[in-house]
Amino acid sequence: MDRPIGMFDSGFGGLTVARATIDLLPAEDLVYIGDTGRYPYGSQPLDDVRRFARELARSLVDDYDAKAIVVACNTATAAGLDALRAELDVPVIDVITPGANALVRATTTGRVGVIGTVGTVSSGAYPRAIAETGVPVSLTSSACPGFVEFVERGQTTGDEVTVLAERLLAPVVNANVDALLLGCTHYPFLARTISDVLGPDVTLVSSADETAFAVREQLDALGLLRDQSAGQGAHRFASSGDIEVFRELGSRLLGPELDHTEPWRAADR
Ligand code: DGL
Repeated sequence: MDRPIGMFDSGFGGLTVARATIDLLPAEDLVYIGDTGRYPYGSQPLDDVRRFARELARSLVDDYDAKAIVVACNTATAAGLDALRAELDVPVIDVITPGANALVRATTTGRVGVIGTVGTVSSGAYPRAIAETGVPVSLTSSACPGFVEFVERGQTTGDEVTVLAERLLAPVVNANVDALLLGCTHYPFLARTISDVLGPDVTLVSSADETAFAVREQLDALGLLRDQSAGQGAHRFASSGDIEVFRELGSRLLGPELDHTEPWRAADR
């Protein structure tokens, strides 16, 4: 099956999921769209984010012939997952369910935290997904406005981001959680700073690896996996914003596979 996996995010955050997917499934072709022309999603009305998600997913299916869609964005998942699943005739894989499953596995005290964008936290998607695991935990959620902007500027460490992290993470520090889910795909790029603020006893859980496993499982179940001995897959990256900026920062964040970025426009469809 030589059709690509289609993946999207508001910008660079989903590259954490792309990295994990490329590492786990190196033979798969992948098309990634970073909607940097319209980011950040986290502070925008969920109705608008749902519209963006539908445009992006539809383009990945119609223009790139994607065989599956990975919504590599928590905010877009919270806003639009049900609509995407209802509309598309390819499997749609999200980051929230795999993240919730990993979080409840990681805790030993049962006190867990989730951080995400304002949109994700206010949607209640994580409390619902965690309740669906059936594991009784005490959850503290905290929105972290500003984190995404630091990542999009390529500023992932330093005093400014540390000061912000100390303030935004105070609720989860005070709740004495032992596992914290990075409920925004941008946040793994800030893991060092977040970990410094929380201390070594708090396990940071990223949904990137778990989502890659979910992709493999779904594709395998549907007979859509590419023969993994077929050699290295092709990786295409597109952006609705400045493609040079996307290539430059994206290659620093993802690695050498991101050596070229093509333009993507909602109006092109
Ligand atoms: N990376 C996205 C997420 O997982 C969105 C960040 C944003 O654009 O605000 O929520």
